Amino acid sequence: MEYLVTTVFVVTTLLTCAGMFVSSDDRLLVNMTVVRSAAALGAYCLDGSLPAYHIHLGFGDGANNWLLQFEGGGWCNDIETCAERAQTRRGSTRLMTKLESFSGILSNNASRNPDFYNWNRVKLRYCDGGSFAGDSKFDNGTLLLYFRGQRIWQAIIEDLLPKGLGSANKALLSGCSAGGLASYLHCNNFSNYLPDTTAVKCLGDAGFFLDSPDINMSHTQRTFFQHLVTLQGIEQNLDENCTNSISDPKQCIFPQYLLKHITPPLFILNSAYDVYQFHHILVPPSADPHGHWNRCKLNPQSCSPDQMNILHDLKCLQP
Ligand SMILES: *[C@@H]1O[C@H](CO)[C@@H](O)[C@H](O)[C@H]1NC(C)=O
Ligand SMILES: *[C@@H]1O[C@H](CO)[C@@H](O)[C@H](O)[C@H]1NC(C)=O
Ligand SMILES: *[C@@H]1O[C@H](CO)[C@@H](O)[C@H](O)[C@H]1NC(C)=O
Ligand SMILES: *[C@@H]1O[C@H](CO)[C@@H](O)[C@H](O)[C@H]1NC(C)=O
Ligand SMILES: *[C@@H]1O[C@H](CO)[C@@H](O)[C@H](O)[C@H]1NC(C)=O
Ligand SMILES: *[C@@H]1O[C@H](CO)[C@@H](O)[C@H](O)[C@H]1NC(C)=O
Repeated sequence: MEYLVTTVFVVTTLLTCAGMFVSSDDRLLVNMTVVRSAAALGAYCLDGSLPAYHIHLGFGDGANNWLLQFEGGGWCNDIETCAERAQTRRGSTRLMTKLESFSGILSNNASRNPDFYNWNRVKLRYCDGGSFAGDSKFDNGTLLLYFRGQRIWQAIIEDLLPKGLGSANKALLSGCSAGGLASYLHCNNFSNYLPDTTAVKCLGDAGFFLDSPDINMSHTQRTFFQHLVTLQGIEQNLDENCTNSISDPKQCIFPQYLLKHITPPLFILNSAYDVYQFHHILVPPSADPHGHWNRCKLNPQSCSPDQMNILHDLKCLQP
Protein backbone atom coordinates (compact mmCIF):
# COMPACT_ATOMS: atom_id res chain seq x y z
CA MET A 1 0.00 0.00 0.00
CA GLU A 2 1.45 3.33 -1.05
CA TYR A 3 0.69 6.31 1.10
CA LEU A 4 -0.15 9.49 -0.68
CA VAL A 5 1.62 12.50 0.72
CA THR A 6 -0.70 15.30 -0.13
CA THR A 7 0.10 18.81 0.91
CA VAL A 8 -2.75 21.21 0.54
CA PHE A 9 -2.39 24.94 0.18
CA VAL A 10 -5.57 26.96 0.05
CA VAL A 11 -4.92 30.49 -1.07
CA THR A 12 -7.83 32.82 -0.51
CA THR A 13 -7.25 35.24 -3.31
CA LEU A 14 -8.82 35.58 -6.71
CA LEU A 15 -5.65 34.89 -8.66
CA THR A 16 -6.21 32.07 -11.11
CA CYS A 17 -2.59 30.95 -11.20
CA ALA A 18 0.38 31.76 -9.05
CA GLY A 19 3.16 33.99 -10.27
CA MET A 20 1.44 35.42 -13.29
CA PHE A 21 2.43 38.99 -12.65
CA VAL A 22 5.87 40.27 -13.40
CA SER A 23 7.38 43.68 -13.89
CA SER A 24 8.60 44.27 -17.40
CA ASP A 25 12.10 45.50 -16.61
CA ASP A 26 13.85 42.23 -15.77
CA ARG A 27 12.14 39.71 -18.00
CA LEU A 28 13.92 36.54 -18.96
CA LEU A 29 13.01 35.66 -22.55
CA VAL A 30 13.63 32.07 -23.62
CA ASN A 31 13.69 30.84 -27.19
CA MET A 32 11.43 28.07 -28.46
CA THR A 33 12.74 24.56 -29.14
CA VAL A 34 10.67 22.76 -31.77
CA VAL A 35 10.54 18.99 -31.20
CA ARG A 36 11.54 17.66 -34.64
CA SER A 37 11.42 14.02 -33.51
CA ALA A 38 7.72 14.42 -32.72
CA ALA A 39 6.74 13.83 -36.35
CA ALA A 40 7.90 10.21 -36.15
CA LEU A 41 5.56 9.72 -33.17
CA GLY A 42 2.62 11.39 -34.91
CA ALA A 43 2.70 14.03 -32.18
CA TYR A 44 1.17 17.13 -33.72
CA CYS A 45 -0.61 20.25 -32.55
CA LEU A 46 -4.27 20.66 -33.52
CA ASP A 47 -3.30 22.18 -36.89
CA GLY A 48 -0.54 19.66 -37.70
CA SER A 49 2.38 21.82 -36.58
CA LEU A 50 5.18 20.33 -34.49
CA PRO A 51 5.04 20.68 -30.69
CA ALA A 52 7.54 22.80 -28.80
CA TYR A 53 8.96 23.75 -25.42
CA HIS A 54 11.21 26.42 -23.97
CA ILE A 55 14.16 25.46 -21.82
CA HIS A 56 16.49 27.47 -19.59
CA LEU A 57 19.36 25.37 -18.29
CA GLY A 58 20.11 25.01 -14.62
CA PHE A 59 23.40 25.84 -12.93
CA GLY A 60 25.24 25.54 -9.61
CA ASP A 61 23.54 23.23 -7.13
CA GLY A 62 20.39 23.26 -9.31
CA ALA A 63 22.13 21.82 -12.36
CA ASN A 64 20.74 18.32 -11.80
CA ASN A 65 17.21 19.35 -10.86
CA TRP A 66 14.35 19.71 -13.32
CA LEU A 67 11.12 21.67 -13.27
CA LEU A 68 8.63 21.04 -16.07
CA GLN A 69 5.62 23.29 -16.46
CA PHE A 70 2.63 22.59 -18.68
CA GLU A 71 1.24 25.74 -20.23
CA GLY A 72 -2.51 26.21 -19.66
CA GLY A 73 -5.29 27.82 -21.69
CA GLY A 74 -8.67 26.07 -21.53
CA TRP A 75 -9.84 23.29 -23.83
CA CYS A 76 -11.76 22.68 -27.03
CA ASN A 77 -14.35 19.95 -26.82
CA ASP A 78 -16.10 19.94 -30.18
CA ILE A 79 -15.07 20.13 -33.83
CA GLU A 80 -16.12 23.73 -34.21
CA THR A 81 -14.17 25.12 -31.26
CA CYS A 82 -11.14 22.94 -32.06
CA ALA A 83 -11.15 24.12 -35.71
CA GLU A 84 -11.17 27.71 -34.47
CA ARG A 85 -8.47 27.01 -31.94
CA ALA A 86 -6.25 25.37 -34.57
CA GLN A 87 -5.97 28.80 -36.18
CA THR A 88 -4.75 30.51 -33.03
CA ARG A 89 -1.67 30.42 -30.82
CA ARG A 90 -3.50 27.90 -28.61
CA GLY A 91 -3.62 25.33 -31.39
CA SER A 92 -0.50 25.92 -33.44
CA THR A 93 3.15 26.46 -32.58
CA ARG A 94 3.43 28.33 -35.89
CA LEU A 95 1.32 31.10 -34.37
CA MET A 96 2.98 31.20 -30.95
CA THR A 97 5.46 33.76 -29.66
CA LYS A 98 8.89 32.20 -30.11
CA LEU A 99 10.38 34.02 -27.15
CA GLU A 100 8.58 33.19 -23.92
CA SER A 101 8.85 35.17 -20.73
CA PHE A 102 9.94 33.02 -17.77
CA SER A 103 8.42 34.39 -14.57
CA GLY A 104 7.05 32.99 -11.31
CA ILE A 105 8.55 29.57 -10.62
CA LEU A 106 10.27 29.75 -14.01
CA SER A 107 12.18 32.92 -13.12
CA ASN A 108 15.98 32.84 -12.85
CA ASN A 109 15.98 35.53 -10.21
CA ALA A 110 17.06 34.01 -6.88
CA SER A 111 15.23 36.59 -4.78
CA ARG A 112 11.94 36.05 -6.60
CA ASN A 113 12.22 32.32 -7.13
CA PRO A 114 14.52 31.05 -4.37
CA ASP A 115 13.57 27.37 -4.74
CA PHE A 116 13.90 26.86 -8.48
CA TYR A 117 15.86 29.78 -9.98
CA ASN A 118 18.88 27.60 -10.80
CA TRP A 119 17.02 24.41 -11.83
CA ASN A 120 16.63 23.33 -15.42
CA ARG A 121 13.24 24.91 -16.18
CA VAL A 122 11.06 23.86 -19.08
CA LYS A 123 7.76 25.27 -20.30
CA LEU A 124 5.76 22.83 -22.42
CA ARG A 125 3.67 24.76 -24.95
CA TYR A 126 -0.01 23.84 -25.06
CA CYS A 127 -1.34 23.29 -28.56
CA ASP A 128 -3.63 20.23 -28.37
CA GLY A 129 -6.65 21.66 -26.53
CA GLY A 130 -6.97 18.51 -24.38
CA SER A 131 -4.58 18.94 -21.42
CA PHE A 132 -1.87 16.90 -23.20
CA ALA A 133 -4.00 13.76 -22.90
CA GLY A 134 -5.82 13.06 -26.17
CA ASP A 135 -4.99 10.56 -28.87
CA SER A 136 -7.30 10.83 -31.82
CA LYS A 137 -7.82 12.66 -35.09
CA PHE A 138 -10.68 14.21 -37.06
CA ASP A 139 -10.50 14.00 -40.84
CA ASN A 140 -13.52 14.41 -43.07
CA GLY A 141 -11.68 15.23 -46.28
CA THR A 142 -11.81 19.00 -45.97
CA LEU A 143 -10.90 19.45 -42.32
CA LEU A 144 -8.05 17.71 -40.51
CA LEU A 145 -7.54 18.13 -36.77
CA TYR A 146 -5.03 16.29 -34.59
CA PHE A 147 -5.89 15.44 -30.98
CA ARG A 148 -2.48 14.19 -29.99
CA GLY A 149 -1.74 15.67 -26.58
CA GLN A 150 -0.61 12.36 -25.11
CA ARG A 151 1.90 11.84 -27.90
CA ILE A 152 3.11 15.44 -27.51
CA TRP A 153 3.76 14.78 -23.82
CA GLN A 154 5.71 11.63 -24.68
CA ALA A 155 7.66 13.30 -27.50
CA ILE A 156 8.75 16.11 -25.19
CA ILE A 157 9.67 13.80 -22.31
CA GLU A 158 11.69 11.57 -24.61
CA ASP A 159 13.47 14.63 -25.99
CA LEU A 160 14.36 15.86 -22.49
CA LEU A 161 15.48 12.56 -20.92
CA PRO A 162 18.85 12.45 -22.73
CA LYS A 163 19.37 16.17 -22.05
CA GLY A 164 19.74 15.36 -18.34
CA LEU A 165 16.17 14.86 -17.12
CA GLY A 166 16.81 11.09 -17.19
CA SER A 167 19.38 11.38 -14.40
CA ALA A 168 17.80 14.19 -12.39
CA ASN A 169 18.22 14.39 -8.63
CA LYS A 170 14.90 16.13 -8.20
CA ALA A 171 12.09 16.52 -10.72
CA LEU A 172 8.89 18.53 -10.35
CA LEU A 173 6.01 18.34 -12.82
CA SER A 174 3.83 21.43 -12.64
CA GLY A 175 1.29 23.36 -14.63
CA CYS A 176 -1.40 25.98 -14.36
CA SER A 177 -5.13 25.67 -15.13
CA ALA A 178 -5.56 23.23 -18.05
CA GLY A 179 -1.81 22.64 -17.54
CA GLY A 180 -2.45 22.02 -13.84
CA LEU A 181 -4.91 19.32 -14.84
CA ALA A 182 -2.23 17.89 -17.15
CA SER A 183 0.18 17.64 -14.22
CA TYR A 184 -2.37 15.50 -12.31
CA LEU A 185 -3.03 13.37 -15.38
CA HIS A 186 0.66 12.70 -16.12
CA CYS A 187 2.16 12.58 -12.63
CA ASN A 188 2.43 8.77 -12.43
CA ASN A 189 3.65 8.46 -16.00
CA PHE A 190 6.29 11.14 -15.33
CA SER A 191 7.69 9.26 -12.34
CA ASN A 192 7.69 6.00 -14.35
CA TYR A 193 10.11 7.58 -16.84
CA LEU A 194 12.59 8.47 -14.09
CA PRO A 195 14.91 6.23 -12.08
CA ASP A 196 14.16 5.38 -8.45
CA THR A 197 17.02 7.68 -7.46
CA THR A 198 15.11 10.75 -8.68
CA ALA A 199 12.87 12.49 -6.14
CA VAL A 200 9.71 13.10 -8.16
CA LYS A 201 6.88 15.40 -7.11
CA CYS A 202 3.97 17.04 -8.88
CA LEU A 203 2.25 20.40 -8.47
CA GLY A 204 -1.23 21.17 -9.79
CA ASP A 205 -1.75 24.94 -9.85
CA ALA A 206 -5.41 25.98 -10.32
CA GLY A 207 -6.02 22.61 -11.99
CA PHE A 208 -8.33 20.91 -9.51
CA PHE A 209 -11.45 21.19 -11.67
CA LEU A 210 -14.38 19.90 -9.69
CA ASP A 211 -17.04 17.50 -10.78
CA SER A 212 -19.73 19.38 -8.95
CA PRO A 213 -23.27 20.46 -9.84
CA ASP A 214 -23.91 24.12 -10.61
CA ILE A 215 -26.27 26.34 -8.60
CA ASN A 216 -29.20 24.84 -10.54
CA MET A 217 -28.02 21.29 -9.76
CA SER A 218 -27.09 20.68 -13.41
CA HIS A 219 -23.81 18.92 -14.22
CA THR A 220 -22.68 21.55 -16.72
CA GLN A 221 -18.97 20.89 -16.23
CA ARG A 222 -19.32 17.11 -16.23
CA THR A 223 -20.99 17.37 -19.63
CA PHE A 224 -18.23 19.68 -20.87
CA PHE A 225 -15.45 17.30 -19.83
CA GLN A 226 -17.28 14.21 -21.08
CA HIS A 227 -17.44 15.79 -24.53
CA LEU A 228 -13.74 16.63 -24.26
CA VAL A 229 -12.76 13.08 -23.28
CA THR A 230 -14.88 11.57 -26.06
CA LEU A 231 -13.82 13.94 -28.85
CA GLN A 232 -10.11 13.78 -28.10
CA GLY A 233 -9.84 10.06 -27.30
CA ILE A 234 -8.61 10.75 -23.76
CA GLU A 235 -10.23 7.79 -21.98
CA GLN A 236 -7.58 5.28 -23.08
CA ASN A 237 -4.89 7.48 -21.49
CA LEU A 238 -6.55 7.98 -18.13
CA ASP A 239 -5.06 6.16 -15.15
CA GLU A 240 -6.02 2.49 -15.35
CA ASN A 241 -6.34 2.00 -11.62
CA CYS A 242 -8.84 4.83 -11.59
CA THR A 243 -10.82 3.78 -14.66
CA ASN A 244 -11.04 0.21 -13.29
CA SER A 245 -12.48 1.43 -10.03
CA ILE A 246 -15.28 3.71 -11.22
CA SER A 247 -18.54 3.13 -13.09
CA ASP A 248 -17.87 5.80 -15.72
CA PRO A 249 -14.15 5.74 -16.67
CA LYS A 250 -14.41 9.21 -18.26
CA GLN A 251 -14.81 10.64 -14.76
CA CYS A 252 -11.12 9.92 -14.12
CA ILE A 253 -10.29 13.18 -15.90
CA PHE A 254 -11.41 14.86 -12.66
CA PRO A 255 -8.61 15.13 -10.05
CA GLN A 256 -11.03 14.32 -7.24
CA TYR A 257 -11.36 10.72 -8.51
CA LEU A 258 -7.80 10.42 -9.80
CA LEU A 259 -6.11 11.73 -6.66
CA LYS A 260 -5.94 8.51 -4.67
CA HIS A 261 -4.22 6.73 -7.57
CA ILE A 262 -1.40 9.26 -7.89
CA THR A 263 1.73 7.80 -6.33
CA PRO A 264 4.35 10.63 -6.12
CA PRO A 265 3.95 13.38 -3.52
CA LEU A 266 1.56 15.96 -4.84
CA PHE A 267 1.13 19.65 -4.09
CA ILE A 268 -2.35 20.99 -4.71
CA LEU A 269 -2.54 24.75 -5.16
CA ASN A 270 -6.05 26.03 -5.76
CA SER A 271 -7.68 29.30 -4.82
CA ALA A 272 -10.70 28.86 -2.58
CA TYR A 273 -12.60 31.19 -4.90
CA ASP A 274 -10.94 30.06 -8.12
CA VAL A 275 -12.40 32.17 -10.92
CA TYR A 276 -12.84 29.27 -13.32
CA GLN A 277 -14.60 27.08 -10.78
CA PHE A 278 -16.84 29.98 -9.79
CA HIS A 279 -17.70 31.22 -13.29
CA HIS A 280 -17.89 27.93 -15.19
CA ILE A 281 -18.62 25.16 -12.70
CA LEU A 282 -20.66 26.73 -9.91
CA VAL A 283 -22.40 29.54 -11.81
CA PRO A 284 -22.10 28.91 -15.56
CA PRO A 285 -24.09 31.37 -17.71
CA SER A 286 -26.58 28.58 -18.48
CA ALA A 287 -27.50 28.32 -14.80
CA ASP A 288 -27.99 32.07 -14.40
CA PRO A 289 -29.86 33.24 -17.51
CA HIS A 290 -31.07 36.41 -15.79
CA GLY A 291 -27.58 37.43 -14.70
CA HIS A 292 -28.32 37.59 -10.97
CA TRP A 293 -24.70 36.67 -10.36
CA ASN A 294 -23.07 39.13 -12.79
CA ARG A 295 -22.16 41.79 -10.23
CA CYS A 296 -20.92 39.21 -7.76
CA LYS A 297 -18.78 37.59 -10.47
CA LEU A 298 -17.18 40.92 -11.37
CA ASN A 299 -16.57 41.91 -7.78
CA PRO A 300 -16.94 39.46 -4.89
CA GLN A 301 -17.51 42.39 -2.53
CA SER A 302 -20.86 43.00 -4.16
CA CYS A 303 -22.10 39.45 -3.62
CA SER A 304 -25.20 39.12 -1.47
CA PRO A 305 -24.95 37.16 1.82
CA ASP A 306 -26.74 34.22 0.15
CA GLN A 307 -24.28 34.26 -2.73
CA MET A 308 -21.35 34.39 -0.29
CA ASN A 309 -22.73 31.31 1.49
CA ILE A 310 -22.89 29.44 -1.81
CA LEU A 311 -19.32 30.50 -2.60
CA HIS A 312 -18.15 29.29 0.81
CA ASP A 313 -19.74 25.93 0.07
CA LEU A 314 -17.68 25.75 -3.14
CA LYS A 315 -14.55 26.42 -1.11
CA CYS A 316 -15.38 23.50 1.16
CA LEU A 317 -15.77 21.11 -1.76
CA GLN A 318 -12.15 21.60 -2.70
CA PRO A 319 -9.40 19.48 -1.15
C1 LIG B 1 15.51 40.19 -8.86
O1 LIG B 1 14.33 40.50 -8.19
C2 LIG B 1 14.50 41.53 -7.23
C3 LIG B 1 13.24 41.60 -6.40
O2 LIG B 1 12.11 41.76 -7.22
C4 LIG B 1 14.85 42.81 -7.96
O3 LIG B 1 15.02 43.85 -7.05
C5 LIG B 1 16.13 42.59 -8.76
O4 LIG B 1 16.41 43.72 -9.55
C6 LIG B 1 16.03 41.37 -9.65
N1 LIG B 1 17.32 41.06 -10.22
C7 LIG B 1 17.56 41.01 -11.52
C8 LIG B 1 18.94 40.64 -11.93
O5 LIG B 1 16.69 41.25 -12.34
C1 LIG C 1 15.57 31.46 -31.71
O1 LIG C 1 15.84 30.20 -32.33
C2 LIG C 1 15.75 30.26 -33.74
C3 LIG C 1 15.91 28.85 -34.27
O2 LIG C 1 17.00 28.21 -33.69
C4 LIG C 1 16.81 31.21 -34.30
O3 LIG C 1 16.71 31.27 -35.70
C5 LIG C 1 16.58 32.59 -33.70
O4 LIG C 1 17.59 33.45 -34.10
C6 LIG C 1 16.54 32.51 -32.17
N1 LIG C 1 16.15 33.83 -31.66
C7 LIG C 1 16.78 34.42 -30.65
C8 LIG C 1 16.28 35.76 -30.25
O5 LIG C 1 17.70 33.88 -30.06
C1 LIG D 1 -15.96 18.70 -42.49
O1 LIG D 1 -16.28 19.26 -41.21
C2 LIG D 1 -16.34 20.69 -41.19
C3 LIG D 1 -16.59 21.11 -39.76
O2 LIG D 1 -17.66 20.43 -39.21
C4 LIG D 1 -17.42 21.14 -42.16
O3 LIG D 1 -17.45 22.56 -42.19
C5 LIG D 1 -17.13 20.59 -43.55
O4 LIG D 1 -18.19 20.94 -44.41
C6 LIG D 1 -17.00 19.09 -43.49
N1 LIG D 1 -16.62 18.58 -44.81
C7 LIG D 1 -17.23 17.54 -45.38
C8 LIG D 1 -16.70 17.09 -46.70
O5 LIG D 1 -18.18 16.98 -44.84
C1 LIG E 1 3.59 6.66 -20.27
O1 LIG E 1 2.30 6.54 -20.84
C2 LIG E 1 2.28 6.09 -22.17
C3 LIG E 1 0.85 6.10 -22.64
O2 LIG E 1 0.03 5.38 -21.78
C4 LIG E 1 2.91 4.72 -22.27
O3 LIG E 1 2.94 4.29 -23.62
C5 LIG E 1 4.31 4.78 -21.74
O4 LIG E 1 4.87 3.49 -21.74
C6 LIG E 1 4.30 5.33 -20.32
N1 LIG E 1 5.68 5.48 -19.91
C7 LIG E 1 6.18 4.86 -18.86
C8 LIG E 1 7.62 5.05 -18.62
O5 LIG E 1 5.48 4.19 -18.12
C1 LIG F 1 -2.01 0.50 -10.05
O1 LIG F 1 -1.74 0.31 -8.68
C2 LIG F 1 -0.73 -0.64 -8.42
C3 LIG F 1 -0.67 -0.85 -6.91
O2 LIG F 1 -0.60 0.39 -6.26
C4 LIG F 1 0.57 -0.16 -8.99
O3 LIG F 1 1.58 -1.10 -8.78
C5 LIG F 1 0.39 0.06 -10.48
O4 LIG F 1 1.56 0.61 -11.02
C6 LIG F 1 -0.78 0.98 -10.75
N1 LIG F 1 -1.01 1.05 -12.18
C7 LIG F 1 -1.21 2.19 -12.81
C8 LIG F 1 -1.49 2.09 -14.26
O5 LIG F 1 -1.15 3.26 -12.24
C1 LIG G 1 -32.82 24.51 -13.66
O1 LIG G 1 -33.15 23.12 -13.52
C2 LIG G 1 -34.51 22.82 -13.83
C3 LIG G 1 -34.75 21.37 -13.50
O2 LIG G 1 -33.76 20.55 -14.06
C4 LIG G 1 -34.77 23.15 -15.30
O3 LIG G 1 -36.13 22.89 -15.61
C5 LIG G 1 -34.49 24.62 -15.52
O4 LIG G 1 -34.61 24.93 -16.90
C6 LIG G 1 -33.08 24.95 -15.06
N1 LIG G 1 -32.90 26.38 -15.15
C7 LIG G 1 -31.85 26.93 -15.73
C8 LIG G 1 -31.78 28.40 -15.68
O5 LIG G 1 -30.99 26.26 -16.28
